[in-house]
Amino acid sequence: MKKLTSLLTEIVSNAFAAAGYDPALGSVSVSDRMDLCQFQCNGALSGAKIYRKAPIMIANDVVSRLCGRPEFIKAEAVPPGFINLTLSDDFLLGVINDILNDQYLGVPQCDKPQTLVIDYGGPNVAKPLHIGHLRSAIIGEALKRTARATGRKVIGDVHFGDWGTPYGLTIAEYKVRHPDWPCFKPDYDPSRDVIPDIDEDEMNEIYPFASSKSKEDPEFKAASRQIVVDLQARKPGIYDLWKKIKDVSVSSVKKIYSRLSVDFDYWYGESDADVYTPELVEILNKKGLLYESDGAQVVDVSEEGDKITVPPIIVKKSDGSSIYATWDLATIIQRERDFKPNGIWYLTDKRQSLHFTQVFRCAKKAGLVPESTELRHLGFGAMTGPDGKPFKTRDGGVMTLSSLISMVEEAAFEKLKDSEYIVGDKTEAAHKIGVAALKFGDLSNQPTKDYVFDIDKFLSFDGKTGTYLLYTVTRINSILKKAGIDYDEKPKIGGIFGEGERELALLIALSGESYEKAMSDMAPSALCDCAYGLASAFSKFYHDNRILSEEDPAKRESWLALSSLTRRVMVKLLDCLAIETVENM
Ligand code: ARG
Repeated sequence: MKKLTSLLTEIVSNAFAAAGYDPALGSVSVSDRMDLCQFQCNGALSGAKIYRKAPIMIANDVVSRLCGRPEFIKAEAVPPGFINLTLSDDFLLGVINDILNDQYLGVPQCDKPQTLVIDYGGPNVAKPLHIGHLRSAIIGEALKRTARATGRKVIGDVHFGDWGTPYGLTIAEYKVRHPDWPCFKPDYDPSRDVIPDIDEDEMNEIYPFASSKSKEDPEFKAASRQIVVDLQARKPGIYDLWKKIKDVSVSSVKKIYSRLSVDFDYWYGESDADVYTPELVEILNKKGLLYESDGAQVVDVSEEGDKITVPPIIVKKSDGSSIYATWDLATIIQRERDFKPNGIWYLTDKRQSLHFTQVFRCAKKAGLVPESTELRHLGFGAMTGPDGKPFKTRDGGVMTLSSLISMVEEAAFEKLKDSEYIVGDKTEAAHKIGVAALKFGDLSNQPTKDYVFDIDKFLSFDGKTGTYLLYTVTRINSILKKAGIDYDEKPKIGGIFGEGERELALLIALSGESYEKAMSDMAPSALCDCAYGLASAFSKFYHDNRILSEEDPAKRESWLALSSLTRRVMVKLLDCLAIETVENM
């Protein structure tokens, strides 16, 4: 289905053309003064210069061709030259019934096949997920689902940090603690020797320990460097231990992501990309891009007009080892080969912006992807405490993601434990409601901005919260159940009888636009705004009308059908945000 504003733009453009003006002036947008009109077109103002005519004259010419059209109840030219439009109820009714019957529920589908890789999550082996990993995971998951809803083929890849210095340090410390493990013996034989199981608690504690130790103990640091070299050469004992550590990490990370309904198509890591490093170096050398600087191999990526210094990107360190940037470039080779994507999107916090500028420029310069491939980085802001500083545990430490999730689940449970409305497992409901509150509290903000973590606010039944949205859905559930309407039934909306419904119907008609906005701005907040608008409009409609006890059967049926469609549109929006609904609360 076409977007409503595109459809209206087509009509108004034709009117411009029929009046002898450039049809490109006919672009229609949603009005920012809903009290005056629903849509507006400001083309007559831009046309004034071209046609040397008062804008109001152009607007009048166009409006005379719009008046009487079935789509509009009102089309007027307003000084100095605005064209204000309001839809007729019949037309609006037709649009929402079309949405009801559209297999994509009115979400505009991209016209050409598009493949998009989304690189999000970004966990690191042997380090537990902490709250810094929250935003990448949930914004990425939402963008992935939104992109799929718009007809794109989307590949989600976690891009595990698994191949650099940290793993040298981690394994070096294992060697200190467990010198008797066969993987550390010179005669290690994988067909005979068994490496003991990795204890998750020890694994989680070992890296920070080893990292601070390396700062004071040069011998330990040197040993860990050698281990990195052995690891990257895939030396059997070291490599096999690393694999075991990675397996434990991956399964622990998967468990936490699944509590957030976050999942990936590929669990590739830097280690998988490293296979492409020799090829990367060859390409860069062939193109004459790689040169030596202080012993390191680098590529110049500064551009004329740069407002900040963009230093050369380091591809090989002076000791010949590869680093973070190397693997990001090598991964681009792998993705181009495997998926031929039209775009690759990366989600990390905004402190990595410069890194991605360097990587993207180098990738384009070296022709690792075609010029047209859209390489985009979404650098998001931080989740902060009330003091505006990054959110911490009570004793000032970094909170693990797992504790954060438990904390919101417990807070939700406290709030709902006495509710008589929740039938069945309250822990399960508290999990869904807590996670919805957390996610919506995050996703409803502009991703690039910081926001304050405030669980009391997030769990409030009033205001722009996930809790309020879930509650609205449960309200509709209960109406439909009482009326005996199944969720998968598609009753037709028979009419628009009042202002509240008109507002709700218009928001449904516009819901498709929010998916496009979310994609173009890389901002799931557009979906949050839409879902919240629908919930508020539904609440108003619900208060103004006694749906179930309405005596006029035509009205009652139509109202029920509108409630059912509202539910459908809201559930789809929430699903794209990876927010699960509950039956009642
Ligand atoms: N592991 C990285 C970190 O902890 C994030 C990875 C993001 N993705 C990427 N392709 N660089 O900072």
